[in-house]
Amino acid sequence: MKISNSASAKGADPERLQSDMGPDPMKLRHVVESQQFTVPVLMELFVRARGMERLVARGGSLDYQNRIMATVFYAPSTRTRFSFEAAMHRLGGHVLSTEQAQVFSSEIEGEQVEDSIRVIASYCDLIVIRHHEEGGAQRAAQVSPVPVINAGDGNGGQHPTQALLDLYTIYRERPLDGLSVAIIGELDKGRTARSLAYLLAKFERVKIFFVSPPELQMKPDILEYLDEHDVRYELESDLDRVIREVDVVYQTRVKPERVHDVKALKRFAIDSAVLQRMKPDAMILHPLPRTVELDKTVDDDPRAHYFRQAVNGLYVRMALLTMLLDKD
Ligand code: CP
Repeated sequence: MKISNSASAKGADPERLQSDMGPDPMKLRHVVESQQFTVPVLMELFVRARGMERLVARGGSLDYQNRIMATVFYAPSTRTRFSFEAAMHRLGGHVLSTEQAQVFSSEIEGEQVEDSIRVIASYCDLIVIRHHEEGGAQRAAQVSPVPVINAGDGNGGQHPTQALLDLYTIYRERPLDGLSVAIIGELDKGRTARSLAYLLAKFERVKIFFVSPPELQMKPDILEYLDEHDVRYELESDLDRVIREVDVVYQTRVKPERVHDVKALKRFAIDSAVLQRMKPDAMILHPLPRTVELDKTVDDDPRAHYFRQAVNGLYVRMALLTMLLDKD
């Protein structure tokens, strides 16, 4: 299957969601969806993230020693929670945390997320939430007097800070305009893939190949957004047809039980044979955790950037915390 839209190159997107931005267009209020970011805000974030790389090398700072971040995770996480918490510690701040909020918060007594957030917000300066329902972070942001960061909502929502660190990892290596990107995996429910597609749409002459089994293809809401913003894309079910031409291979997991033909999943995996067909300067990204879709034999290839990507999560999240916590 190969479906192509006819859109050509586009201009940078000035869109922003007023509810998630303050009166100053460079000032973020909440981070709920990646489409709320403008190119100037992304560049400000990336400049700060570069500074955070240097700050961490010096051992961090105490600049935010009077600030408290709450991490409220209703669903499991390794990278996102640890990197946000490390980010706040590296900035000198403090962390309140629950890693299994479905069990260790009053949700188990039937408390709604809105009530939990109203209360938690009175104890801290910023909340990072991973919610098990799509829209959970938006519900939190609507009632919170302190900034809320969506650390992944539901099965098919968004994971905007993952997309920010994905984009930063690419930005550190090459220009973002003119990129050709294959996004592979379970795309209909892939919150990282969805958030990344929105961010890529901000740049010029980007082309996205969505590569997945047909039953797991990217949902119409993203494709409509790309059409509206003149971003070129193709829907593909054969990785081999695109692997030679893309600059970035963004691999994600597929749950085997969701695929009609499990044996066909091999066609979407990255291994040493696929490496041979990729551009010599291509980048392989994966939000992690991985299973069989990304073979460990790829790890030592210079094109493998996924562990660096996880490191960049620390710098980008530090930068984002400063942008949300700085008063002016
Ligand atoms: N990429 C990512 O969100 O990883 P975690 O689920 O470990 O946070």
